[in-house]
Amino acid sequence: MQEQIKTMKPYTGKNVVLGITGGIAAYKSIELIRRLNDSGINVRVIMTKAATEFVTPMTFEAISGNAVHTEMFGPRIKSAIEHIELARWADLLLIAPATANIIAKVNHGIADDLLSTVSLALTDIDLAIAPAMNLGMWQNPATQKNISDLNSRGINIWGPASGFQACGEIGSGRMIEAAEIVDYVKNYFVNNQQLPLSGKKIVITAGPTREPVDPVRFITNRSSGKMGYALAQALADNGAEVKLISGPVSLSKPAVGDIERITVETAMQMKEAVFDNIDGCDIFVGTAAVADYRIADIADKKLKKSQDDMRIDLIKNPDILGEVAALKKPPFTVGFAAETDNLEKYAKGKLEAKKLNMIAANIVGVSDKGFDSDKNELHVFWKDNSKILQLEEKRVIADKLVHIIMERYDAENKIKNT
Ligand code: PMT
Repeated sequence: MQEQIKTMKPYTGKNVVLGITGGIAAYKSIELIRRLNDSGINVRVIMTKAATEFVTPMTFEAISGNAVHTEMFGPRIKSAIEHIELARWADLLLIAPATANIIAKVNHGIADDLLSTVSLALTDIDLAIAPAMNLGMWQNPATQKNISDLNSRGINIWGPASGFQACGEIGSGRMIEAAEIVDYVKNYFVNNQQLPLSGKKIVITAGPTREPVDPVRFITNRSSGKMGYALAQALADNGAEVKLISGPVSLSKPAVGDIERITVETAMQMKEAVFDNIDGCDIFVGTAAVADYRIADIADKKLKKSQDDMRIDLIKNPDILGEVAALKKPPFTVGFAAETDNLEKYAKGKLEAKKLNMIAANIVGVSDKGFDSDKNELHVFWKDNSKILQLEEKRVIADKLVHIIMERYDAENKIKNT
């Protein structure tokens, strides 16, 4: 084991999906696969229809030791989401050779075959392109504009080289050699040491919801969003792609990392935003203080104070967290429990009743933690254990909670995969 750790390189055991498009340089990909395999890198191949005109899929099947993927649909396809499975498997999608056509499709988000669809399912930093085309096509302003756009998006462009071309011309456009591409791949993995949550999609709710009574009044709670926003930042700091679904708060969007904020007002809007983003989500965290009830009949005009007393009928809001955990294929689901008493009993009750993977419980209704405070203290429970995170700044508590989430997520995924 010690020996194995010593000799492990950052690229050993990494997964590369190699996209091969229709160009004469497709034959160079045979050597490329062999060299990648020799370096301990796993390779699965996607070929476009045009690529199969240059080299047969069987050749790549034999070299890579894996079935070659050529189509989105058809009798050979075992799963309707094969493109997503390939994207999830890949640490890097390398398109080599990449024609002017695939370069244009990647730049414009066109997904009309398996390769272009997989490329759209990945983040830009997980893409690398080794162009191969005739000099005129390479110099064409359309291609140059596409390359410059892809470059500015952070997509890796490796090559092309200059020299003799299959068409007889001399100039830029040749695919770089296999050995050079492998060096680029190794460097990529060395330089982009993956963060623990790289490639993970996380949806998190934060803040309160507001349930309107009439055009000028609403029912809400004391949540400031500080806990949820600190968690969103801590998750992004660990490489996750975060969708922060936020109720009305006065905080700015967390500045660093891959965080998209979606603002909502009511519980119903929060539920809609969550379910619009839940597909492909790996981890869901429910930090929001969602109103349990909403007003049955929202008045369309300001209510007048004509009587001495008045009653407002409330109806139950959907339990967003519970509905996420009840999905057929739920993400790893983390809830919060805000309690004024009986913290452990109520939190464990919610963990079980809602079938959560974890719950972070906090005492609320006091001034130094919980709602609106800059600090918090959490008692985190999961199936067979718990951990107390002592009173600290919410951003520090958030880092510690994310650490537990990662440990539990890894542990449960390992169990699932054995
Ligand atoms: O925003 P801050 O000022 O920083 O305060 C942080 C916090 C106290 C709001 C936070 O730490 C917290 O405890 N959030 C959960 C608040 C809450 O609504 O707890 P609950 O015990 O009522 O709900 C249990 C869980 O179900 C929560 O994950 C909640 O998001 C979820 N829920 C509740 C009701 C509902 N209709 N839908 C839900 O998804």
